[in-house]
Amino acid sequence: MRTIEWNDSDSSVKMIDQTLLPGELKIIKCKNVAEICEAIQNLRIRGAPALGVCGAFGVAMAARLSSANTVGGMLKDIKAAGEAIKKTRPTAINLSWGVDRLIQIVEEEGMDPHLIRNIALEEAQRMADEDAAINKKIGKNGAKLLKDGDVILTHCNAGRLACVDWGTALGVIRSAALEGTKISVVACETRPLNQGSRLTAWELQQDKIPVHVITDSAAGFLMSEGVISKVIVGADRITQEFVYNKIGTYSLSVLAKEHNIPFYVAAPVSTLDPDNWEENIKIEERSPDEIRYLGKAKELNVAEGIPILNLAFDKTPMENISAIITENGTFYPPILIDEIILG
Ligand code: MRU
Repeated sequence: MRTIEWNDSDSSVKMIDQTLLPGELKIIKCKNVAEICEAIQNLRIRGAPALGVCGAFGVAMAARLSSANTVGGMLKDIKAAGEAIKKTRPTAINLSWGVDRLIQIVEEEGMDPHLIRNIALEEAQRMADEDAAINKKIGKNGAKLLKDGDVILTHCNAGRLACVDWGTALGVIRSAALEGTKISVVACETRPLNQGSRLTAWELQQDKIPVHVITDSAAGFLMSEGVISKVIVGADRITQEFVYNKIGTYSLSVLAKEHNIPFYVAAPVSTLDPDNWEENIKIEERSPDEIRYLGKAKELNVAEGIPILNLAFDKTPMENISAIITENGTFYPPILIDEIILG
């Protein structure tokens, strides 16, 4: 199944609970906006493109559940739900993009409450289909950059689990493998929530693409030994100056530059943020408990009382990036994000 889907039979949003992988593949159902917010906050669903579609389904759900019988009343309910959803995770722009796109279409075309419910769901479903198609295009464009023998390092999970389907960074790898290019992958573990070891490695194993998992701190040594030929990562937000992505991406970009290894970012155009000021962009800080305790048994990793800074994302300057791969093509330095949007 796709990472996230609308379930018509009981008007719920179905998703793979990513906190349980790779041990258990479980589908959960969110039946109201609070459950959707909980799922996003706790990373049951995660990854920028998947969050965008989840935000859209959340607004569609709010429209379904609203008892308002006027357009104004319904818009009020939808906007309140949209605000609650947007607050769950601040860094990935796709989340607010998904919510805002839904609210905009409802404002433009919603003549009565019944119509609003239908329009909202149709648009959210359109976004889910678009995401899957866009990732295929990103994959096709990016696959041209890979050749036989490449060992590609990736960080976090920018695979089908981070999207509706196929993936961005892993979409490129998947497309190349499908075309017959002989490649293998090195997945950084991605502390503290281990999206690399738990999700990326699992996805690649399912597709029979060779993968090794390394600790995050092993990447520099492997680059210096000539093991890594390319780095491909996804993105949560791209401004003219920086690519925001999982914490550790910046360090990898510096290491790649030092060792003359191409550093590629694969992302849909919806991840671009051309109009924002850096000071307005919030880097998500998550609970210290994600670092203080280890695993389900909650073994103590950092003694109580010691302060912990758990930043979920960092920002990589554009000058460290060799190319941005999008559905509109692959863009090389000098990278101008307005040109990417125009295609
Ligand atoms: O905290 P997460 O797991 O949501 O972080 C995800 C990432 O950093 C991904 O690299 C990014 O969202 C791109 S996913 C195609």
